[in-house]
Amino acid sequence: MTTRTTADPCWYKDAVIYETHVKAFFDGNGDGIGDFAGLTEKLDYLETLGVNCLWLLPFFPSPLRDDGYDIADYCGVHPSYGTLHDFQLFLEEAHRRDIAVLVELVVNHTSDQHPWFQRARRAPRGSPERDFYVWSDTDQKYAGTRIIFTDTERSNWTWDPVAGAFYWHRFFSHQPDLNFDNPRVVEEIEAAMGFWLDLGVDGFRLDAIPYLVERDGTSCENLPETHAVVRRLRASLDRHAPGCVLLAEANQWPEDVRPYFGEGDECHMAFHFPVMPRIFMALRMESAEPIIDIMKRTPAIPPSCQWALFLRNHDELTLEMVSEEERAYMNLAYARDPQARVNVGIRRRLAPLVENGLRRIELLNGLLFSLPGTPVVYYGDEIGMGDDVRRSDRDGVRTPMQWTGDASAGFSRQPPENLYSPPVSDPVYGAAAVNVEAQLRDRSSLLHWMRNMIRLRKQFRVFGRGSIEFLPVTNAKILAFVRRWEGDTILCVANLSRHAQPAAIDLAAFAGLTPVEMLGYTPFPAIGGLPYMLALGGYGFYWFELRRDP
Ligand code: NOJ
Ligand code: CA
Repeated sequence: MTTRTTADPCWYKDAVIYETHVKAFFDGNGDGIGDFAGLTEKLDYLETLGVNCLWLLPFFPSPLRDDGYDIADYCGVHPSYGTLHDFQLFLEEAHRRDIAVLVELVVNHTSDQHPWFQRARRAPRGSPERDFYVWSDTDQKYAGTRIIFTDTERSNWTWDPVAGAFYWHRFFSHQPDLNFDNPRVVEEIEAAMGFWLDLGVDGFRLDAIPYLVERDGTSCENLPETHAVVRRLRASLDRHAPGCVLLAEANQWPEDVRPYFGEGDECHMAFHFPVMPRIFMALRMESAEPIIDIMKRTPAIPPSCQWALFLRNHDELTLEMVSEEERAYMNLAYARDPQARVNVGIRRRLAPLVENGLRRIELLNGLLFSLPGTPVVYYGDEIGMGDDVRRSDRDGVRTPMQWTGDASAGFSRQPPENLYSPPVSDPVYGAAAVNVEAQLRDRSSLLHWMRNMIRLRKQFRVFGRGSIEFLPVTNAKILAFVRRWEGDTILCVANLSRHAQPAAIDLAAFAGLTPVEMLGYTPFPAIGGLPYMLALGGYGFYWFELRRDP
């Protein structure tokens, strides 16, 4: 077993997380598919980028009909990505660089190819084996439950001719939901957790956690029984591996996510789903209001807990946690091309969402790194990779990492037609235009900027741990807030407009302090009794340390 040296039990609060798929990162053995050997080779790159926690998308044995979220064996490595031994070598090398590793725990469902399902459909009704999954004689049960994959699924029930019954699934019909009313299911999930914890992983992302338990007459989401299961998984984690973390994927409104922290006895972290689309809305509306609104609607969380913030990930930019009106606005603003839409969201990467506007990419990352929570960077977004909305499902945002300008993007020795997915090929976002090698050489590249910002953020724990207060500003296009923790105070000011803007900020509470701009370490005029005047260029933003003795 390998472990990291970090002793701080709240290490995840200071982390910068990098999300990647093993298959998409680097092909070590030259068969066209990324693997653990390749990922291990590229750990130096990640260390230099400054990220200190990796979240790996599912890499377990699977028929790959949902890119690995359809698990056929919880305790193995898909042969395309290497062996368990390769995983162990990777984990040791990550830990040697003090990089933590989070893996997926897809708790809600398995593949229909999982031996549990194959056994269940043949087992007698009412037997513990059959009861690993959720069965019904009718497809009308739990009728109040929404469908998540609206583009492909018409019902949450599918008829199984072998079992002679319908089985329940919140996602694809090949992903039957496990039955968490069966204590043996919970025991099996705990055993899978134990397996990876024994190897030394630092925690789990809990996929689709709101849907564990179903009850008649409810939405079958966020039920008290589901929270009881999460508490049990947490207790098991704490017994087994104190210091390891659970990160909840609960795509819900803030007030419904809050219970996934429990009293500090459920998840350590949870993604802040509602703030994400509102950051994009604020940018397009040129107004700070959507961000301030949702942050004010965000309840306080227990001291040991932390939000995880993200701009983009491997899924569509989900528009489930916005109103009808806001959804229509987002689609108009960011997905005029109907091909860019999938399910209830937009399948685009960060750079194309903002028309490759470098200042907008920087502003969005500036917000990601300064709003309260732990930032999660999606692989490739640190160099401004593009997408391909013509690919099926969400594949267009899961293309090979672009390392060099060659035809296979330096991802593999195989020609592009032999890769698990062809790289993005267009004149603006193709590997010839966007790649790590070129951006490493170009000191003014996005990659260098990201490295710099991550380094700066990590120097100030206030970003990961501090409180937030929004400040009154005369200009609604300007977002201004202070972050405070122990003796540190940081003022963040962002211009959401494409044009230069003046800002008069009420900093009366900080009179006598001097704002020191953090990138250049330049002192600005001291704060007096009057509103503090700043001018910001289009999409400009500042981080100031407020100091008594600059
Ligand atoms: C959420 C994951 O992020 C997504 O990629 C997957 O398809 C569903 N859960 C089902 O597991
Ligand atoms: Ca390979």
